Amino acid sequence: MSSCLDTRPSSGAPTTGEAEPTKSRIEVALAGALSRAEVGGPPLLAAAMRHAVFPGGARVRPQLCLAVARACGDPLPALSDAAASAIELIHCASLVHDDLPCFDDAALRRGRPSVHRAYGEPLAVLVGDGLIVLAFETLTRGGAEAPARLIPLLTTLCRATGAPSGLVAGQAWESEPSAELQRYHRAKTGGLFTAATVSGALAAGQDGDRWRALGDRLGAAYQVADDLLDVVGKPEELGKPVRRDATLARPSAVAELGLRGALDRLRSLLAEAVESIPACPGEDQLRDLVLRQAARLVPEGLAQTAA
Ligand code: IPE
Ligand code: IPE
Ligand code: MG
Ligand code: MG
Repeated sequence: MSSCLDTRPSSGAPTTGEAEPTKSRIEVALAGALSRAEVGGPPLLAAAMRHAVFPGGARVRPQLCLAVARACGDPLPALSDAAASAIELIHCASLVHDDLPCFDDAALRRGRPSVHRAYGEPLAVLVGDGLIVLAFETLTRGGAEAPARLIPLLTTLCRATGAPSGLVAGQAWESEPSAELQRYHRAKTGGLFTAATVSGALAAGQDGDRWRALGDRLGAAYQVADDLLDVVGKPEELGKPVRRDATLARPSAVAELGLRGALDRLRSLLAEAVESIPACPGEDQLRDLVLRQAARLVPEGLAQTAA
């Protein structure tokens, strides 16, 4: 399966003509951000930061951000590129920290050694910290021409990243004696998806709140799919370890709902995502794109396993 949102080489199906330009916009923006963080700095830190960002995974969040910006006319592409790459930098940082021994203790990420396995734990902690700061710097630079749009964009990214309901909070729920599944998923994953859709609209000068539901539903679906793949996926296909949720006693859609229940939940979240696309000039194109992403998240083999 493949879509504008999906850049995985294994995806198979044809992509639309817009996928390549979007992908290269994101890679160029990320490369520019990384190079600004390297000049004159410690070489091993620079290499470890690159390892965390390149080559990327699905780049689903920045592609979603740019898809919404395009649906809203994308009048300031430099600003939407900055917003999209800032979101991806936060995501990459979260993966580096998530793989550390004190979190999920994962040796593999995107088919390669995780950053702490390749460069050691001290540098991995610093890579995560450095990428988070670089994300905010990247967004701030991109907003220099449109300062009025910058404050809501920065606020959106802060909320998706920190406490009480962003990524930091999501990871922190794992240290609580119990966590409500949807709140945990929304914080650790949903926040960045919501930031992606909202920021795409804000960068285009539109009302971000109209796009919140789409990001929220897609983010929830994405984490349910990740929970399913943790049970039925293969490390060689996913490029990361499996069975971590059960081993680490994490709240998980599969643990709570079973395979069938989690798959049903995934399907209904994806249907809700399609329903929540706001009326806009690029509506049909965006719906098409979400449907193709939905096909990627519910692969044939997964449906058969759950049945
Ligand atoms: C992994 O996200 C973490 C989750 C929230 C499930 P992705 O599956 O988007 O990771 P990459 O960027 O493609 O490697
Ligand atoms: C996903 O966490 C969200 C993050 C904060 C990284 P997971 O631990 O479920 O993600 P994977 O399965 O390691 O990619
Ligand atoms: Mg984790
Ligand atoms: Mg993990």
